[in-house]
Amino acid sequence: MAKETRVILICSGKGGVGKTTLTANLGIALARQGKKTAVLDADFGLRNLDLLLGLENRIVYTAQEVLEESCRLDQALVKHKQEANLSLLPAGNPRMLDWLKPEDMKKIVEMVSELFDFVLIDCPAGVEDGFKNAVAASKEAIVVTNPEVSAVRDADRVIGLLNSNGIKPIQLVLNRVRPKMMASQEMLSVDDVTDILALPLLGLVLEDEQVIVSTNRGEPLTLSGSNSPAARCYSNIVLRLQGEEVPLIDPSKEGSSIGDKFRRLMQTKIF
Ligand SMILES: Nc1ncnc2c1ncn2[C@@H]1O[C@H](COP(=O)(O)OP(=O)(O)O)[C@@H](O)[C@H]1O
Ligand SMILES: [Mg+2]
Repeated sequence: MAKETRVILICSGKGGVGKTTLTANLGIALARQGKKTAVLDADFGLRNLDLLLGLENRIVYTAQEVLEESCRLDQALVKHKQEANLSLLPAGNPRMLDWLKPEDMKKIVEMVSELFDFVLIDCPAGVEDGFKNAVAASKEAIVVTNPEVSAVRDADRVIGLLNSNGIKPIQLVLNRVRPKMMASQEMLSVDDVTDILALPLLGLVLEDEQVIVSTNRGEPLTLSGSNSPAARCYSNIVLRLQGEEVPLIDPSKEGSSIGDKFRRLMQTKIF
């Protein structure tokens, strides 16, 4: 009996909430822990997982050629430059969506699963064919959302569809948390979101401009062992994903003003 590979769909409904960023960061973090990990770009329309991982110049073949049997899977898999345990399976041409069927996606994920401990699937936004194909190939899911009404409503819709497709477990990542806005009730709170969506919370990711800097460099934050706020959050998520109990970051203790930082420094270092 083959090993049990974790095939995890990273989805959201709404676009731009942080799916691809989370996929890239979790992929790197798992690989750094020695887990053989594949990240699969299922967003054929707007592929950019390759860019976030800095691998865009290394792509020769894609999932499309593998399915058409014009190359082998190992020829299409792009190994990460620094993290040998991480490989990317790039998305094919956007026109591939016209003919791709759920069985095709299942086939490709089964092939990838033979070689890896974790397969993370970066899902397209929406709930149309691209989403349905990705769901068909997945076992479990991470739903990413932001503390915003529209993102939460779309996440709710997606959770219903995941449930009816037998995806289990489904866990929640609340991304772009801004402690100050939460504290002043300008943003939905963590409890608001978990109450509405009724999913176990796999983790929070703080709003962090380093995420944007690292994205533009094609070097996910988890690659450098950074200790920035979001990097700490990603590390915690990776541990929880593997069953470890790690306390949640408390947004109210994540003050980011210079005054807050100074006060914390005074407390820890001087007094
Ligand atoms: N925690 C975060 N803090 C700051 N910016 C973020 C965070 N997560 C994602 N972003 C930014 O949000 C934008 C959308 O992220 P992306 O991962 O492409 O979303 P999706 O794949 O869901 O469309 C990107 O510019 C990314 O850098
Ligand atoms: Mg994306």
